[in-house]
Amino acid sequence: MTPDLGIEFAGIKFKNPVFTASGTFGYGYELADLISLEKLGAIVTKTITLEPRLGNVQPRIVEVASGMLNTIGLQNIGVKAFVEEPLDNLRKTGVPVIVSVAGAAVNEYVETVKTLSARSGASAIELNLSCPNLKKKIVCHDLPLMQDVVKSVKKVAKVPVIAKLSPLVADISEFALAAQNAGADGVTLANTYPAVAIDVKTFKPKLSTVKGGMSGTCVKPMSVRCVYDAYQNIKIPIIGCGGIMTGEDAVEFMLAGASVVSVGSASLLSPENLIKIIDGIEEILKEKNIKSVRDIIGVANAARKAC
Ligand SMILES: Cc1cc2nc3c(=O)[nH]c(=O)nc-3n(C[C@H](O)[C@H](O)[C@H](O)COP(=O)(O)O)c2cc1C
Repeated sequence: MTPDLGIEFAGIKFKNPVFTASGTFGYGYELADLISLEKLGAIVTKTITLEPRLGNVQPRIVEVASGMLNTIGLQNIGVKAFVEEPLDNLRKTGVPVIVSVAGAAVNEYVETVKTLSARSGASAIELNLSCPNLKKKIVCHDLPLMQDVVKSVKKVAKVPVIAKLSPLVADISEFALAAQNAGADGVTLANTYPAVAIDVKTFKPKLSTVKGGMSGTCVKPMSVRCVYDAYQNIKIPIIGCGGIMTGEDAVEFMLAGASVVSVGSASLLSPENLIKIIDGIEEILKEKNIKSVRDIIGVANAARKAC
């Protein structure tokens, strides 16, 4: 028996639950020579902003034990250029496209999404809410601001809106609930973890901005915890993200309550890892004689099952 990997998320049908993670797969279509894009559940684009951004100065990536830190700084060509070429090329791949959007203020998110909505091509919008606002505070750490962004974007978006949250809060389930109450159709849990690496030869920080976002194997248990906690508090579906390297890791996120997963650092190591993760999920379902990947969502999350 070949297990059914098909899944519905926020009303959209995906052929399998493995998505790329924003910022780790370029705009998506450029990687067609390296990987069979049509095998992916969805492509989540790098974050797009209203105006083009050059990003932070080098060095902006550093390896750490079992992971990496990055401080790319949302380098992108801006939404006007994005809808002219990358979005068109993405549409031609036939793979569902989730466009990641960020801004420093509510109107920047809204204007970016308005420009995207004037074209077809995006199946959903993922709001990157882990970027700094005008006062240099992380948008989703300010609950009223985060809710304002979600509500305002919902008014102009023609497709489902997914809120991607920062894990660096005391209780992620409260923030996920706040996103749901503001109208989000799903949440992504979670973004990277702020971290610092210092070079003991030079006595200097390794990243140009000192702090960067930590991702990779080392963050997985913390992000699984985010999914586990949020699943108990919300009804909207979850994209699990953080340190997924294998099919087993993806299944772990789904057992905690994620409906689908997004994969970042593993695909930076090799885009082929995305396909291995899809195959790995299928193998586990086969071994356990489980007919559909839908049957494993939240199975290890006793608290929600009990309510
Ligand atoms: C180099 C790099 C760039 C990233 N850029 C973005 C981005 O533009 N927008 C975003 O929402 N997340 C961004 N992320 C975070 C990833 O989408 C993902 O949430 C995080 O890396 C955790 O997943 P992983 O451990 O599988 O990499 C970036 C991560 C990396 C490593």
